Amino acid sequence: MSRETSVRTVRFDSRQNAVVLIDQRRLPHEFQFVATTDFRETAEAIRDMTVRGAGAMGATAAYGLAQGARAFRGSDLGRFAGHLATVYRELAEARPTAVDPVNALDSVLAAMSAGTTVATQQALALDAAERFAEEDVAHCTAIGRHGLKFFPDGTRVLTHCNAGRLAFVDVGSATAPIYAAHAAGRRLHVFCDETRPRCQGASLTAWELSQAGVPHSIIADNAAGHLMQRGEIDVVIVGADRVLGRTGEVANKIGTYTKAVLAARHRIPFYVAIPLSTLDWNLRRGTEIPIEERAEDEVLGAWGVPTGKRRAERVRIANPGSPARNPGFDVTPAELITGVITPVGVFRPEALWKMRHRLGGETAQTR
Ligand code: MRU
Repeated sequence: MSRETSVRTVRFDSRQNAVVLIDQRRLPHEFQFVATTDFRETAEAIRDMTVRGAGAMGATAAYGLAQGARAFRGSDLGRFAGHLATVYRELAEARPTAVDPVNALDSVLAAMSAGTTVATQQALALDAAERFAEEDVAHCTAIGRHGLKFFPDGTRVLTHCNAGRLAFVDVGSATAPIYAAHAAGRRLHVFCDETRPRCQGASLTAWELSQAGVPHSIIADNAAGHLMQRGEIDVVIVGADRVLGRTGEVANKIGTYTKAVLAARHRIPFYVAIPLSTLDWNLRRGTEIPIEERAEDEVLGAWGVPTGKRRAERVRIANPGSPARNPGFDVTPAELITGVITPVGVFRPEALWKMRHRLGGETAQTR
């Protein structure tokens, strides 16, 4: 196993009180770590996409809350609670669409409430953050087991963006059944949508699959319909940033909805793979999901490493002076989704609410 495939995307260094992240802005050109030593820096690493992907951001937020709690000096519980509220807000607001950071922060806060002193709460915070990270890995591994049956020998797969190990602590959600099938000796071919404008498919998913030795090709986002029409894609699998437990609607990287429509047109199964931290039991409809609007720069240009150079540079592609619109995510309706692959089984999206007791939504208020 190479160094690149044996390390976690996110971990915590308790001696330095630092969150250690694979710097995803530099991949696939350079493999480097970044250590954030303060909760504000940790929130900034989420905002600037040093770390991205729902599960990885969730673990980073959990560690960030523990980091902020551990940095507090004093024993006054009232002042400590005020400090925690600031840390929580900063981390929760770093990127709005994924629900995993909020679920992660809430699970750390809930665990801390068992402590009666600042010191015990600080210790409980780190334990809970470590637990969230471990659970993320366990959930992705279980998704691999449940999803394996959809990837027989010879399957040609389409995936969008990156819901691989870089989007989680390890393993990945959409990649989990792919890695499981590959490990079982099945031959697969993965088509990675390049995923404009930031190209997480071309840069991150393709990098991961290369590292793991899984055969793949990068395709332009617009090529998927053609490949489906020619019978070259057997199954689509994507991750998600937020799945509504009440309706089964799925928020994921912009372009996911388009691929789901295409898959339905061609009767190709379309799966969404998620750990339980991606479920939102509160929102009542997809239009309530906050969709991140990103800088127009990302659409107007591109990043790349010029031949013969080592450092990435940004070039402008678009007509100078033309503005752009850059929504980062879209929402796919339940009717276009064949199944949601979770750590506890595969469900029709409309059945999630009925199954909430198995899916960690037991405290969700009924309508
Ligand atoms: O903007 P990103 O790179 O954080 O978005 C990630 C995605 O939307 C991926 O498609 C992924 O499926 C969701 S994270 C598991």
